[in-house]
Amino acid sequence: MYRETDQNKRNLEAAPPAEEPARQYYFMEKCREWTRDFERRKGRPPRACVVNMGCQMNAHDSEKLRGILEQTGYEEALDENADFVIYNTCTVRENANQKVYGRLGRLHHYKKDNPDMRIALCGCMMQEPHVVERLRESYRFVDIIFGTHNIFKLAELMAVRQETGEMVVDIWEDTKLVVEELPSQRKYPFKSGVNIMFGCNNFCSYCIVPYVRGRERSRRPEDIIREIRKLAADGVVEVMLLGQNVNSYGKGLEEPLSFAGLLREIEKVEGIKRIRFMTSHPKDLSGELIETMADSGKICRHLHLPVQSGSTPILKAMNRRYTKEQYLELVERIRGAIPDLSLTTDIIVGFPGETQADFEETLDVVQKVQYDSAFTFLYSRRNGTPAAAMENQVPEEVMKERFDRLLQEVQKISRERSSRFTGTVQEVLVEELNSHDPGLVTGRMGNNLLVHFPGDASLSGRLVKVRLDESKGFYYMGTLAE
Ligand code: SAH
Ligand code: SF4
Ligand code: F3S
Repeated sequence: MYRETDQNKRNLEAAPPAEEPARQYYFMEKCREWTRDFERRKGRPPRACVVNMGCQMNAHDSEKLRGILEQTGYEEALDENADFVIYNTCTVRENANQKVYGRLGRLHHYKKDNPDMRIALCGCMMQEPHVVERLRESYRFVDIIFGTHNIFKLAELMAVRQETGEMVVDIWEDTKLVVEELPSQRKYPFKSGVNIMFGCNNFCSYCIVPYVRGRERSRRPEDIIREIRKLAADGVVEVMLLGQNVNSYGKGLEEPLSFAGLLREIEKVEGIKRIRFMTSHPKDLSGELIETMADSGKICRHLHLPVQSGSTPILKAMNRRYTKEQYLELVERIRGAIPDLSLTTDIIVGFPGETQADFEETLDVVQKVQYDSAFTFLYSRRNGTPAAAMENQVPEEVMKERFDRLLQEVQKISRERSSRFTGTVQEVLVEELNSHDPGLVTGRMGNNLLVHFPGDASLSGRLVKVRLDESKGFYYMGTLAE
C-alpha cells in the first residue's frame, strides 16, 4: 500500500487545486473532516464496502476505490449493510447487468434503517446512457453515479454529494487522461495488478467493452516501471499486467515501445519474481513476444489466448481478424518455442449465424489445441454492438445444447491436461490458508494451477517448492519439497 502522505496536509480553506492528483488529495482530506465527525457522533469510523462485479480490470479499479476510501477515513465493512456501498459494475453480458437492479433493492432496505448510508454505482454499466436514465428515474436513493474514466474522482464526488445533498451523476464519454499516483489498497500484499493500458480499439462485433472503456491508450513505460518498483519495495513479488489487448501496447506513445520491450524492462525490476499479463489478442501476438517469453525466467508459463470461435466465417463476422488456420498455426509456434506453456482461452457459443458446422469447427479447435482450461460463454446480445443488429440470432435452446457439449469437452481435456504434472516439484506462490481446512495452504503455480498442501500462515506470500502428489482434476494436493 503506498500513499503520497505529503499530499495530505492541504489547506482546505483555499480553493481546490486544478491539477491532478493534488486535487483529489485535497478532496480526500475534505471527506476526512466528514468521517471524523461521523466518528465523534457514533463512536466508530464509518464502514465502506466496494463490490466488484467484473473482470480483473474492474477488480483492480476496485482496489483504487478502496485506497481512496481508506485515505478518507473509512474502515472496510464485512458486508453490504454498511455506511457506504459502491457497486463496481460489469456489462459484458446481460445477466451481469440484471443482477445489479435486484441487489439495489436490498441496499434500499438497508438505507431506510441507516439514513447516513451512501450508495454509489460505477464501472462499465454506468457508461450506458439507458442505464443511467433508469437509475435517475427509478432509483433516486442512489447517491453517486460515475463511470470507468473518472474513478480517480471518487473523493471529489463524495464531497459534492455531501455539500449539495443531491444525487451526483458524472459520466465521461471518453478520456485521454491517465491520473497517476493515487492511493490503492491491494487485496494481497504480495501480488498486484498493474494497468499498462486502458480501453480497446478492436470492436469485436459482439463486444460492448470498446463503448464503455473508450479508446485504447497506453500508460507511459516510465510510469509503469515506477509503480512496479514501488510495489516491489512494498513486498510485491508477482505483477499481473492488465489491458484488453496487451499485445498492442505502446501504440501512440511519444517513444513507441512494444509489449515485449516493456516486458523486458519490467523483468529488470529487482524483487519482482513473476510476471503475468492479460489479455492477448491473437492477431497482435508477435514473434518478439514469443521469444521474450521463451527467454524469460520471470514471465509465467501461462498464456490466455481467447479464440472465441473455431469457424473462420464466424471469426470474420466477429471482426476478430484471424482465421482458424492462423490461430492454430500461432498456437503451434508458441508451443514450439515454449513447450511447458499452459494455454487457456475464451469461447463464445451461439454468435448470430453460427451453424452446427461452425460449432463443430470450434470443437475441432478445442480438441486440436488441448487447452489447459477455457471460459465458455453463451452469446449475449449487447445493445449498440453490430452483432446485436444481425438478423440470424441463434435460438436459446440450440445455444444451450451446444454450450453443454462444449463445456463437457473442455472439462474432459482440462482434467487430463491438468494432471500432467503429477509427481513433479513446482514452484508455487502461497496465497492463503485453505478455507475448508486450516491445516492446509493454497499456492499458485506459474501456469495458474492451484495446489493445496500442509502449511501455516507464515508461508503466505512466499515462493516455495511443492511436490504435486495427487491431481484432483483442476487442482492438486501436494507436500512441501524443501
Ligand atoms: N479483451 C479481452 C476480453 C474481454 S471480455 C479479449 O479480447 O480477449 C472477456 C470475454 O467475454 C471475451 O473474451 C468474450 O469471450 C466474452 N464476451 C464478450 N462479449 C460477449 C458477449 N456479448 N456475449 C458473450 N460473451 C462475451
Ligand atoms: Fe472486446 Fe474484442 Fe476489445 Fe476484447 S479485443 S475487449 S473482445 S472488443
Ligand atoms: Fe465487464 Fe467492463 Fe471488464 S464490461 S468484463 S468489467 S471491462
